Order: sequence, then C-alpha cells, then structure tokens
Amino acid sequence: MNLPSLHIGDLVARLPIVQGGMGVGISLSGLASAVANEGGVGVIATPMIGMYEPDRATNPEEADLRALKREIAKARELSDGVIGVNIMCALTNFAELVRTSVREGIDVIFAGAGLPMDMPAHLPQELREKAHTKLVPIVSSGRAAKLICKKWLKRFGQLPDAFVVEGPKAGGHLGFKPEQLDDPDYALEKILPQTIETVREFEEVAHRPIPVIAAGGVYTGGDIVRFMDMGAAGVQMGTRFVATEECDADIEFKKAFVNAGKEDMRVIQSPVGLPGRAVGNSFLDKVRDGLLKPHKCPYKCLASCPQEDGPYCIAKALMNAKRGLLKHGFAFAGANAYLVDKIVTVKDLFGSLKEEAERYKVDATRRYTEGARQYLEQMQDGATRYKQGAKQYLEQVQSEASRRTESARQYLDQVQEEAARRTENARQYLGQMQEKVSTKLHDYLPERMQTDPEKS
Ligand SMILES: Cc1cc2nc3c(=O)[nH]c(=O)nc-3n(C[C@H](O)[C@H](O)[C@H](O)COP(=O)(O)O)c2cc1C
Ligand code: SF4
Repeated sequence: MNLPSLHIGDLVARLPIVQGGMGVGISLSGLASAVANEGGVGVIATPMIGMYEPDRATNPEEADLRALKREIAKARELSDGVIGVNIMCALTNFAELVRTSVREGIDVIFAGAGLPMDMPAHLPQELREKAHTKLVPIVSSGRAAKLICKKWLKRFGQLPDAFVVEGPKAGGHLGFKPEQLDDPDYALEKILPQTIETVREFEEVAHRPIPVIAAGGVYTGGDIVRFMDMGAAGVQMGTRFVATEECDADIEFKKAFVNAGKEDMRVIQSPVGLPGRAVGNSFLDKVRDGLLKPHKCPYKCLASCPQEDGPYCIAKALMNAKRGLLKHGFAFAGANAYLVDKIVTVKDLFGSLKEEAERYKVDATRRYTEGARQYLEQMQDGATRYKQGAKQYLEQVQSEASRRTESARQYLDQVQEEAARRTENARQYLGQMQEKVSTKLHDYLPERMQTDPEKS
C-alpha cells in the first residue's frame, strides 16, 4: 500500500511521516537529512543547539544562532527534502530562533512545550508577507488549538499552517497533568478527532485545509494507517527514530532504548514544571531520592526553569545523555521505547514502516471481510430463526383457531340439543295442559251437553 504524501499548503513531503524534533541534540542535521532523504519531514531540535560552541555560556544567543544556521546548512547540503526545526516556546531565545530559522529559509517550524501565542510576531519584518516557512504549533487538545487560532486571527490576521496534536504516550516533556496520562479521555485516539473538528471551523475562514498531524505512541506502520484512517494528515514519530544509525545521539543513548524493559519506562516531574517520560536510571533514582547537590544555572536557557532553585539542571542532564554519559543524565523516551530491539538505518526503518503499513492494510481488509462474513452468517442465522419462529407461531395460531372452532361447534350442538330438549318439554307440557283442560271441561259441562253438543 502506498502511504499518501503530506501537504502543508504548498509544501509537500512524499510520505506523511514527520520525525519529531528531539532535544537536547538528539535530532540535528544528521537525522533530519536522513529522514528528509527518505521522503519524510526531517526536524532539527533547537534546545541548547549551540552546546558545543565555546561561548555558549558567555554569549548564548550568538552561540545558538550560529549553531542553528550551521545545522540548517548541513541538512540542506545532505538533502533536497523537507527540513524543519522544532523550537520549544519555553526557550528564552524562542523569538530569535524563529526569526533566524525563517531567514535561513527553513521549510517548517514546529513549536511546542507551551502555546506559541505570539509566534507570527517573531517573523522577520522584511519577510512577513513572503516567507515560505510553515508555522505549526504542537498542542495537546482541541481547546489549545482553538485558543491559538483565535489569537492569531485577531492579532495577526493569519492562522497556523497545520497542527501537531501530541498525546500522552510521547517522549520528552508532556502537555498533560500526571493524572491525565493514563486517562482514556486524554488518549491520542480521543484528542485527535477533537482537534480535527475544532480546526475544521477555521479551515472555512482560511479557505484552505489546516492539516492535523498525530503524535505520541505512533510506533508501527499499522499505527500510521490507523491514525490516518481517523483523519490525521500524517504522523510525528520520535522514539522509533532514536534507535537509528543516523540519530545524532551517542550510541549509549540509543542502547538505553534497546536495553529498556517495560518496567524501566518512567514518568518524571521535570524541573521546568511539566511531566516528562524517560528511561529510568540511577541518575533519576538520585533525583527521586533528593540526593543531587545544588547546582549552577550555566545557560539560562528556559524561561520556566527555577534555575538554581531546581533540583538539577535539565539542560546539562540532557546534554550529558546525548554524549552517552548516562550516569550524569537520562534519556527522554516515548512510552513504546521498550519495544525497540535494535539499531537500524533510517532507510531500513522507512522500509519497515511501509511494510507494516501494507501488512496492516491487508490484515485490516482481511479482518473487515471476515467481520462482514460473520455478520452475514449471523444475519442468515437470524433470518432462519425468524422464519422458524414465524412458522411455529402460525402453527400455534392455526391449532388455536381449530381448537376454538371445535369448541364453538360443540357449544352450538349443546345449544341446539338444549333447544330441542326445551321444545320437547314445552310440547309435552302443552299436551298435558290440553289433556287437563279437556278433563276439566268434561267434568264441568252437564252430561246432556256432552252427548248433544247442539244444545249446549
Ligand atoms: C529523546 C526525545 C527528546 C524530545 N525532545 C523534544 C523537544 O525538544 N521538543 C519537542 O517539542 N518534543 C520533543 N520530543 C517529542 C518528540 O518530538 C515527539 O513528538 C514524540 O516523541 C512523539 O512520540 P513517540 O516518541 O511515541 O513517537 C522528544 C522526544 C524524545 C523521545
Ligand atoms: S538550570 Fe534551567 S535555565 Fe539554567 S541552564 Fe539549566 S535548564 Fe537551563
């Protein structure tokens, strides 16, 4: 089965698969270009993108923007496909990262970890009308999508080009309260149709489609088909791209996925105030047990971070993890990370996803045909039972009718018999009466009259 292409306005990806941006440093130009070469949307993650720049601590803005430009240029060198960036709203340099990405001609910006209410305000003035960059907020509900649409329309007279709706099975920071993570009301299967329905109202205003991309727990090609059958224009996947050769993380980070069991998957409370999903390890045990020492805030990278008052610096922990130093950090991971059993190339991964999608379609057709056959059998069974029931009912009605006819006939016979008996009684009674009358007359009239009736 051929997966359809993903259209975001005039931007077209050959396949409906967006590789989710993964910080810190997990998806850079290496992974993004490999995904774009296979026909998906490759996404460069921007948190702490300038981590290897010598002046990241002293000159954070320039260091990050320099690294961002370099990563975009590298990805462009390696691929002609669709390349995007992921910029977390919580980053202190969100506005500059948006502006620079647009100036660098990035195809699409995904903005999550908060609602990008003012994103269009950060477009470079000179490019506001003609920038081809697509703006795609990441949300966790239809309500959030509606808030963004209303705000953008009112303030900027424009609407997002698409949305990613991310469910609670995703990796990294999650847009849900901890108690909502296992609540079926917040499952991707619920929030996807709600978001599609909300966005549909605004498509009428925009006179164009606003595609909705499903994310969080999409793992197999079958999942891709399933969510697209529910109305998604495509899917965003993170976890499955971590265990690829081209993923920009150290091999130890990828091995953490390969070696994880279901029991290792853990939801943590990030210092930035959001829950996050990760592979549990000794570092996270120390965080849980309050064993980490006070720390410095070297980069001032997140607006919502308590900085030195937090239990640890998450930027440093994630940078350590990216470098493979998992004793001093941890790996963010989606709920399905324990299913990963080997590291493959991005090409092979796309091959598997297409095969799985194909198999799912064939299985779905088989399941559908089997379901239809069973339904038909049930219907035929029902019809036979109904016919049998009707025949029995008719027989009962007929026998009841002949029973009643018979008793009516017997009753009629009895009535006739009784009538004949009474007629006979009456007749006898009349005879007796006549006899009595003539006896009386005989006694009463003079003998002469009895012999000479002429004289009487
Ligand atoms: C290691 C890792 C890091 C992530 N970092 C970010 C990030 O920096 N910004 C973001 O918006 N999403 C981030 N995510 C979420 C992914 O982009 C993606 O939407 C999500 O993982 C999809 O769910 P899946 O992992 O089940 O496929 C991260 C996910 C992982 C696994
Ligand atoms: S303490 Fe917080 S703001 Fe400071 S560098 Fe670490 S993650 Fe960034």
